[in-house]
Amino acid sequence: MNIHFAPLQGYTEDCYRRLHHALCEGVDVYYTPFMRLEHGEVRSKDLRDVQPERNQGIPLVPQVIVRDADELQRLIDVLRPMDYQRVDINMGCPFPLQTRHGRGAGLLPHPDQVERICSLIRQSADIQFSIKMRLGLTSPDEWQTLMPILADTPLTHITLHPRTGAQGYKGEVLMEAFEAFVHVCPHPLVYNGDLTTLADIRRIEQRFPTLSGIMLGRGLLARPTLAEEYKRGEAMTDTDVIQRIKALHDGLLADYRRIIPSEAQQLQKVRTFWDYMEPTLGRKAWKKIHKAGSMRNYLAAVDELG
Ligand SMILES: Cc1cc2nc3c(=O)[nH]c(=O)nc-3n(C[C@H](O)[C@H](O)[C@H](O)COP(=O)(O)O)c2cc1C
Repeated sequence: MNIHFAPLQGYTEDCYRRLHHALCEGVDVYYTPFMRLEHGEVRSKDLRDVQPERNQGIPLVPQVIVRDADELQRLIDVLRPMDYQRVDINMGCPFPLQTRHGRGAGLLPHPDQVERICSLIRQSADIQFSIKMRLGLTSPDEWQTLMPILADTPLTHITLHPRTGAQGYKGEVLMEAFEAFVHVCPHPLVYNGDLTTLADIRRIEQRFPTLSGIMLGRGLLARPTLAEEYKRGEAMTDTDVIQRIKALHDGLLADYRRIIPSEAQQLQKVRTFWDYMEPTLGRKAWKKIHKAGSMRNYLAAVDELG
């Protein structure tokens, strides 16, 4: 199965993607965190992140979050000159800041808006689209109303995170609803949600052999070698995993030192690299890194990892 690295705002920006792609194998496609319009313009940080020169050699698909077809058109117009041939549309973001304005999972209860977006997709022959979605905003049945529209739209694939927007990123993933989706979805389908170990990935693969891929998010942030281990068919040793994590970290810190002026801000930014790594590092080592108040103590804590 193809491995897709989930977009994670605040984590998988260009520096991280470049280094991950250079140092870890196994990911077939990376996505930008969602790009969006603010006061009618694309946010400048989104534009920087997607610039081709910052993403050379990386199999990258820009992701956009929109409330209607007009916003999608504006974003396509921005991406087209950069030669991107694929765009992913976010219909899954659960944050009220987006859903309140009908973006992300906020689109799911509105088949009329989804139809207009899909109609634009049907007309845009030079760009291919995929959709990343949830089961619904508040009810896990909302996708059923959308399926005839989606089925009638050319898509490279759908990525489904089988929760509702109301669930956020916690609580049960609704595997029975996912199974119902598998049975009727005519597009290649990618599973996303809560896969953090090789055993998790294999379980999904066995249960749903027709999947075209899986998307890993927090599992890859926690263990950046997970995709490589899956493709190789065996787990790496703890020592090898830690070495790889440290190489990734050192590259990231070197980049932040180049672009962020103050050491305190560099520390604040680089510390997020460890946010999801407690299961990989163990509580004690993880806490020490997280609690270090100065760059010196922080680097000593990282060094102690081995
Ligand atoms: C901090 C954070 C930021 C995220 N940013 C995005 C985003 O920009 N676009 C998107 O489609 N999903 C975003 N997601 C959702 C992830 O892509 C993914 O669907 C989710 O984490 C579930 O997969 P996982 O259990 O493998 O992490 C974000 C999730 C988190 C926790």
